[in-house]
Amino acid sequence: MTNTAKVDVLLGLQWGDEGKGKIVDVLAPKYPVIARFQGGPNAGHTLEFENKKYVLHTIPSGIFHQNAVNIIGNGVVIDPVTLQLEISKTGLSFEHIYKSLLISRKAHLILPSHRLLDFAMEQIKGEAKIGSTLKGIGPAYTDKYARAGLRIGDIEFPTFIENYEKLKKNHIQQAEYLNCKLNDFVVDNGSFSDYEKRWFDSIEYLKKLQFIDSEVYVNALLEKGMPILAEGAQGSLLDVDFGSYPFVTSSNTVAAGACSGLGIAPSKVGKVYGIFKAYCTRVGSGPFPTELFDEVGQKMRDIGREYGSTTGRPRRCGWLDLVALKYAVVLNGVTDLIMTKSDVLSSFETLKICTSYIFNGKEIDFIPYRIEEKMLQPVYKVVPGWLNDITNCRDYNDLPANLKEYVRFIEEFVNVPVKIISTGPDRTEIIYK
Ligand code: GDP
Ligand code: IMO
Ligand code: MG
Repeated sequence: MTNTAKVDVLLGLQWGDEGKGKIVDVLAPKYPVIARFQGGPNAGHTLEFENKKYVLHTIPSGIFHQNAVNIIGNGVVIDPVTLQLEISKTGLSFEHIYKSLLISRKAHLILPSHRLLDFAMEQIKGEAKIGSTLKGIGPAYTDKYARAGLRIGDIEFPTFIENYEKLKKNHIQQAEYLNCKLNDFVVDNGSFSDYEKRWFDSIEYLKKLQFIDSEVYVNALLEKGMPILAEGAQGSLLDVDFGSYPFVTSSNTVAAGACSGLGIAPSKVGKVYGIFKAYCTRVGSGPFPTELFDEVGQKMRDIGREYGSTTGRPRRCGWLDLVALKYAVVLNGVTDLIMTKSDVLSSFETLKICTSYIFNGKEIDFIPYRIEEKMLQPVYKVVPGWLNDITNCRDYNDLPANLKEYVRFIEEFVNVPVKIISTGPDRTEIIYK
């Protein structure tokens, strides 16, 4: 009992794309096991090393390390087509994938008709659309909670096709009710039936991989003293309970999601690494108090290469929002902060940090229940930029004084230390404080 190891959780504190993939890849050598606990192919986690760039959607970001075991937990929703494609794009051998990638039998499947429904539901919303990645995430989680979903483990049973057909029929009826016809639906540049064929081919491929009862497996590893790094997807402000509902994703992206998404008790959680960008971005619709609509925002987008890793959409950009960051830090019980993309701000003469909002004429230090357009104005502290290239810096002491002051201000505001600073997309561009 005394040797029981912990699960350290790593998650995004903003609206996703904080650099989780890169940081998991950096921390992976310290962990024999990396596990994803929620989300699905709506995620796009970028890793860069040896002049190559990889984008992972479902596979945990420890996959490139020789001895790491990578688990796709029960809380994840899996699209077999995306997963197979992703595996092939890693360029890793089948032997490596077979031994390094384990999939929970209890993870739910995203059916082609979940993607049809996602599209139909967004279309009917018109102006109020969420800006979903249209990967079928919402409908797959809906079926999970409606106790109608199909899981990875079901693939192994002879009733699989029959149950698939029943669910598909139901989805097509729902889509028709939403004025969306199967024959008009284009998915991955092809017809539904082409995609469905690929989907079944990928199901056959998945059968060659290892399916596990991941909650049993994970707890046994902990008993053996093997620490696990749980990799979150999306960000806390997209959490289905605590994000800017309804402009959220359909899973619990906060630390609590790691417990239900992997089957571990809260007492097993060790550190909670919270990642944030030195500024903010958001892709898709929904409130974003510090959003910039001018050339300053465009400059952030250009320098930070702020285009979605999954959809290629331009990301909305804005100043760092400490009210929102503090909210996320508290919800997750963050123990260690990690700041990414500090290098992107290196050429800005002055920087703004949001420390409160004006809401209905009053200054507030929390995110209100409902934010209508223009109801909320950020209050900023203006600070001098560092105007120094920091990409080659590897020692915290060598960082410009104004950047260290920026970090100190954040730490004091949210009351958690910043332990790691990322200064570029590559694995080597990292500073431990
Ligand atoms: P994730 O979804 O949280 O894994 O993040 P994404 O991969 O979607 O987006 C983060 C983007 O920023 C990717 O293109 C990364 O390669 C890149 N990135 C990560 N950390 C840094 C950093 O410190 N500086 C810069 N310039 N880019 C970074
Ligand atoms: P990673 O893990 C950024 C956003 C979508 C949309 C909303 C709902 O790479 O940080 P969904 O497809 O879940 O129905 O979309 O959530 N979204 C993300 N934004 N990064 C992500 O993942 C995201 N996953 C979903 O843009 O606004
Ligand atoms: Mg991403």
